[in-house]
Amino acid sequence: MSVHFAGSRSRDRPRVAIIGAGVSGLGIGWRLGAAGCTVDLFERNFAGGGASWAAAGMLAAGVEAEPGEESLFRLNRMAQQLWPEFRTELEAESRRDIGYRDDGTLVVASTRDDLEQLRHVTAFQTGIGVELEWLTAAEARRREPYLKSGLAGAVFSPHDHQVDNRRLAMALKDAALARGCRLHETRNVDAVDLEAGRLRGIVVNGERHRADIVINAAGAWANRIDGVPELCRPPVRPVKGQMAALRMDRNHPIATRVIWGPNTYLAPKADGRLLVGATVEERGFDDDLTAGGIMAVIEAAWRVLPGIEELPVDELWAGFRPTSRDDAPVLGTSRLDGLLLATGHHRNGILLAPVTANLLAELVLTGRTDPAIDAFGLDRFHHVSHAGAAS
Ligand code: GLY
Repeated sequence: MSVHFAGSRSRDRPRVAIIGAGVSGLGIGWRLGAAGCTVDLFERNFAGGGASWAAAGMLAAGVEAEPGEESLFRLNRMAQQLWPEFRTELEAESRRDIGYRDDGTLVVASTRDDLEQLRHVTAFQTGIGVELEWLTAAEARRREPYLKSGLAGAVFSPHDHQVDNRRLAMALKDAALARGCRLHETRNVDAVDLEAGRLRGIVVNGERHRADIVINAAGAWANRIDGVPELCRPPVRPVKGQMAALRMDRNHPIATRVIWGPNTYLAPKADGRLLVGATVEERGFDDDLTAGGIMAVIEAAWRVLPGIEELPVDELWAGFRPTSRDDAPVLGTSRLDGLLLATGHHRNGILLAPVTANLLAELVLTGRTDPAIDAFGLDRFHHVSHAGAAS
């Protein structure tokens, strides 16, 4: 996307404060910095250290599409189409390789029961336009020779690729800094700063920071900022995921593309790490690793790729998906003039990074909400009661 100033003189170079320096906040900051805005990013921890760090980097609009999520699929598909150009631009600006791999994704069924489920899900997915190719077990093993023998069948998704999410976050950070953004790490945003009901900026560690526009990109913490009027709070909660990274021989990896199986996914990275995930748990901000969680993650992966048994464990971690009430992102304006939202990405924050960056930047610069994100505004959660009051 090329970003132009289109606003009035007073809107030309707004001072923007972004709460949260994950891939969403960093991406928006990068675009706005490039357009000449004054951008301050506030991060409670370290840039890219939250869900962006914990993710697996799958760009899986197709195989993750679920019934009832047709409009989310359209947004995800749009993001997928933006990815090649976004990657080229970002790698050029940051001078970093972000580990983008366009090998597609393989979904395998271990048993006849799994196969029937896969048929059911893929019927929905192909019905909404996902391109999928059925493979026999032998064909699947020709592509991934270390898959277990005796699979019931498999499906190949040629457009579901992956990126190294940690490298992505670091590249976005470098690109944003190169475009003049100021990054304030370990700075907790206490509250929005309101005067007579109008947004004046934010309060950070007890000090006021003036801004014309505040973007809430605080991920799973997005509804914990004081002073935000009730109707402007995104209904976002943390959904915990425990994951493991195993270490393959990078010259002889036992998996070469993303593989999904029953209750598991495996995402091999170019550096030889094999990311294996993930649990989906409602435990608030409890980040404990549990024996049961890690056992479930490893066992499900082992059932499709038994060779992982011999691999060293490189890392175990837990992260928090920022999940909204309907699992779709919350993007766009709020009822408080100047307060914008870019959160609630649930399982799709990495995939949606180009859409979030481009369309939120466009909203800041032009005041226009792109039709692609119209359906993902905060107001979808506020129904009008019989008395006429929004709830
Ligand atoms: N997108 C994968 C996950 O949320 O576990």
